[in-house]
This record gives sequence, C-alpha cells and structure tokens, in this order.
Amino acid sequence: MTQHTRAKSEIFTPSGQIQFGVFFQGVNSGTIWKAAESGSQTDFESFRRIAQTAERGLFAAFFLGEGLRLREHLGRPHALDVVGRPDAQTMLAALASVTKNIGLVATQNTTYNDPADLAHRLASLDLISGGRAAWNIVTTDNAWTGANFRRGGYLDHADRYKHAEAFVETAKRIWDSWETPDGPASRVLHQGQRYTVDVTPRLPRSAQYRPVLFQAGDSPEGRNFAARQADVIFSAHPKFDDAVDFRKDLVERSVAAGRGANAVQIMPASEFILAPTAAEAAEKKEWVRSLQIGPQQAIAYLEQFWGRELSTYDPDGPLPEIDPVVEETSETRGSGFHGAKARQLADQWRAEAKDKGLSIRQFVTSKTARIDSTFTGSYTAVADHLAEYARVGAVDGFNISPWLIPTGLDDIVNHLVPELQERGVYPTEYRGSTLREHLGLETPVRTADEAAAAVRA
Ligand SMILES: Cc1cc2nc3c(=O)[nH]c(=O)nc-3n(C[C@H](O)[C@H](O)[C@H](O)COP(=O)(O)O)c2cc1C
Repeated sequence: MTQHTRAKSEIFTPSGQIQFGVFFQGVNSGTIWKAAESGSQTDFESFRRIAQTAERGLFAAFFLGEGLRLREHLGRPHALDVVGRPDAQTMLAALASVTKNIGLVATQNTTYNDPADLAHRLASLDLISGGRAAWNIVTTDNAWTGANFRRGGYLDHADRYKHAEAFVETAKRIWDSWETPDGPASRVLHQGQRYTVDVTPRLPRSAQYRPVLFQAGDSPEGRNFAARQADVIFSAHPKFDDAVDFRKDLVERSVAAGRGANAVQIMPASEFILAPTAAEAAEKKEWVRSLQIGPQQAIAYLEQFWGRELSTYDPDGPLPEIDPVVEETSETRGSGFHGAKARQLADQWRAEAKDKGLSIRQFVTSKTARIDSTFTGSYTAVADHLAEYARVGAVDGFNISPWLIPTGLDDIVNHLVPELQERGVYPTEYRGSTLREHLGLETPVRTADEAAAAVRA
C-alpha cells in the first residue's frame, strides 16, 4: 500500500508514538517572568536556550505565537504586559542558524497578511532552514487588531474562515507552481472573490516541498478548515477523555473532507510540572502557581473584567463588593477576556469565592491555572500516562508551554523524554532533516489536473 492510499483510509490508525513541540509564549499568566530564575522574553538568548534544549530532547517543533497589538488595561497599555514579542519569522530565521533539526513554526494570521507576500516569506524561512518551516494559521479578525492596519474590523467574523481558505489556497498555488524542485515556476494568475494575484514565484521548493501547515482554532468552522487544509491542529484539548473525543470529531471531519482518517495530526497545548515523586511534584505545583499569579497579577486580572482600578483591595482578602463598570469586556483586554459578561461574571465569581473561602489571589490562581492542560506528577507516572495516549492515539503529541523561560524544558528533556523512550513511545533520533519527515507527513502530491490548471492559469 502506498503512503497516498493509506492516508485516504477511513479507519484511523494510531502511530503509537508521541512527539513534542514547544510553545514559547509572550507575557501571560502561564509563564513566570518575575522570578529570580526568569530570563528575558525578548532577548535572543532565551529563545536560543529553549530551542536548543528542545532539540536535545528531539522535539519536532518550536512554536511562536503572534500578537499584533498590545493589550490595554484601563485605557493604557497593560503595564504587566508591555514588552511584546519579537516578530515570529525574524526570530525563527535567527534560530534556524543555531539549530539543525527542529521544526520552526510561525503563527501568522490570514486576515491582515497578503498571500503572495506571506507565501514568499514562509518559503524563505523554509529554504534557509533546510525544510523546517511551518505556518500556524490563525484568523485573528477583531477590530482592535485591525486598527493597527487602518482596516479595523473590516472582515465579517462569520466570514473569517472563508477568507482564510482563499488565502491558504492562493499560497499553496504559489508554492505548487514549480514544475520540478528546480523550476521553472509557472505564473500564478488568480482572480477570486477575495484575492486577485498575478505572481511568478521567486523561490524554488524547499527540501520538504512547502511549509507544513498547522492550524489553531477550535470552533466547528475552525475544525472543518483544519480538516480540509492542515497537516497538524494545535488543539486546546489535552485531557485524556476530551482528547479522545476531539480525535473522533476530527477524524470524522477529515474523512468527510475526503482526506482520510489520519490526515490531520493533533497536538494540544499543555503544561508539565514534574519531579522525582508525586509529593514533590504537588509541592512544586503550589510554588509554580504562587509565582504565576503574584499579588499585582491577581488584582490586574480582576481589573480586566471590572474595568476599574482595584488597587486598594487586598489580594489576600475577598473579591471586591463594588460592581464592574463594564457590562461586557472589549477586545482591548485580549482574547481571554474578550466578550465576557462582566457584571454577570462578577456576581458568579463573588458567590463562588465565598462558597469556597477563596481570597482574590487564590481565586484568580484557580481561574488561570490552566488546570485542564496541566500534567503534574512523577516522571514515571506522567510517562505511563502519556504512553496510554500513544497507545490509543488520543493525540500525536503535545505542544508544551514552559512555565519558566529559559530553563523550563530541562526536566522534561532530562527525565521525561528518557522515560518515554524506554516505553518505546518517543523517537530516539530525528527521522530525517525536515519537519515533514519528523512528523511522518507525506509530501504533498499535485494531481495532474491541478498541475494542468496551474499551467493554464
Ligand atoms: C491553542 C491555540 C493557540 C492559538 N494561538 C494564537 C496566536 O498565537 N495568535 C493568534 O492571533 N491567535 C491564536 N489562536 C486563536 C485562533 O486563531 C482563533 O482566532 C481563535 O481560536 C478563534 O477561532 P475559533 O473560533 O475557530 O476557535 C490560538 C488558538 C488556539 C486554540
């Protein structure tokens, strides 16, 4: 059976393997930026250290998110958040020169970019990294971000995936227009409802043909889009039962899209808090949580919803009796806060905190702890648990957010990876030199019809 027919099967076959990616986050409540051990979030050194550690641990990919506009807080740039993140492709290009194998994934949105330009920039990263680039496709379409581009919320929210699809199809046509790996390229003329391009691609194919496509978005439209277009989905469903359900859902969608049950790999966002014993891991978790949400962060978190200064409130006291000044939170507060019914939430939260006897800080810690994505335990217990994911094929891997930069992957690479290797569920070497090879993805094949269409165009 060829790779091609196996990929079209309607029966999902688990690979029995787990792979890791690392998701280097900007400022957020999941990463500790204020401890003595914390590095800088913008210095190259932090990125280099994490990427090289991940590569030592045979990670498939290094991810960078994208945030195109700073969050605001009470009408000003959020003071706890002000240093943003370097441009993903610039940073990944620099990392390409200090790494050899690890995949380099740039989150880039389809709403404010241009397909011909982005296709060229991603092809550049793919070429200079020797076939290690990937694009994490996101649709960020809010008016707040759009104001940076003098476009505001020009795109109807309901239309964002149709727009994304036209964007990705155009980019693929540009990448696919090379007749052979060395050329020549055919001119891509495309006149669509959303994009009109007349472009002769400026770069040949990379060692992995074209960049690997990731997608991050969880709505039914987002999942269908991934089923049609993506090689990997960066999911928000790491817990075992939820992960099994998500796999089932995605398999159905990718079979319905005609791509076969194994077409889209799944890598959920996750956090690991590990130690030699369960008791030490539990203790470490308390310590991590106390650093993730300090007194200032706890008050600022509530201020995002209340829309007013709460600095006179004691972080170790009860939630504020005073009501929020906003009915619904706006997008200036960031995606995690956007559109929350603030007054209703305040009532619920006060009741919940009172009920459980939680202070502001304890309450905010419980709300932001990303409990759903955390694996806490001894190296061996967590390795056993992950081996079970591999056995049933609940996921293809995990996209790990380190809670400390730049040393947050050390115990995963030094202790968890060898445990997984012993269980036969984790690679013992890189499978090849490209990201497509590490992930075991087949090389895209253009059908004769597609090739002919490209030539005719
Ligand atoms: C795990 C995960 C990571 C994401 N990372 C980013 C990011 O770095 N930048 C961004 O603009 N959007 C990011 N998104 C947001 C998605 O692009 C999308 O806009 C959002 O999830 C809403 O789409 P949906 O309704 O299909 O879920 C992420 C989403 C998920 C689930």
